[in-house]
Amino acid sequence: MKVRQATSRDVENIMNIYNQGIEDRVATLETEPKNQVYMEEWFKQLEGRYKVIVAEEEGTVKGWASLNPYNNRCAYSGVADLSVYIARDSRGKGIGGLLLTAIDEVARQNGFHKIVLFTFPFNQLGQRLYHKAGYREVGTFKNQGILDGEFVDVMSMEKILIN
Ligand SMILES: CC(C)(COP(=O)(O)OP(=O)(O)OC[C@H]1O[C@@H](n2cnc3c(N)ncnc32)[C@H](O)[C@@H]1OP(=O)(O)O)[C@@H](O)C(=O)NCCC(=O)NCCS
Repeated sequence: MKVRQATSRDVENIMNIYNQGIEDRVATLETEPKNQVYMEEWFKQLEGRYKVIVAEEEGTVKGWASLNPYNNRCAYSGVADLSVYIARDSRGKGIGGLLLTAIDEVARQNGFHKIVLFTFPFNQLGQRLYHKAGYREVGTFKNQGILDGEFVDVMSMEKILIN
């Protein structure tokens, strides 16, 4: 398994994996699958300090992670928001762990001192992964989002990279 920075040629694979996460209703408040145009725009906006990395095996992308803008106030410029998605048939095999280890270094190299993430408390694989990767639970927003017409809680977590 190789982890590398994503290129525009990866966008379609990234989209397919993201859409599986959307469909499974475990990862995001998004409910509609994304198309190529949307994802290309997303990818363009993540250039600069905001990186996307992929885990690839024998030329096939199995998962990806990104550092997204957290807040555009300059006081928060050292904080990145994390996304991580693994292809459905490749979950629970350590790929998420590999990506989170790699993204810490990418974040440090790009001047981030901290990563935050927002996750559903019922996303067990995610919870396990984040705790193992050194993320701390900050707290849970009750009835924070609406997913398929129902309120859902959203947990925030953080990892300090540089004190
Ligand atoms: C959440 C997600 C990123 C985790 O990545 P992953 O590659 O599946 O996770 P890993 O295999 O690296 O690690 C998960 C941990 O859960 C364990 N695990 C594996 N299968 C499990 C299962 N069925 N139930 C509970 N834990 C399990 C793993 O063993 C590992 O713990 P360990 O290292 O102590 O053994 C991935 O499952 C995913 O993409 N899910 C859908 C999208 C999503 O939820 N994204 C996160 C949005 S917040």
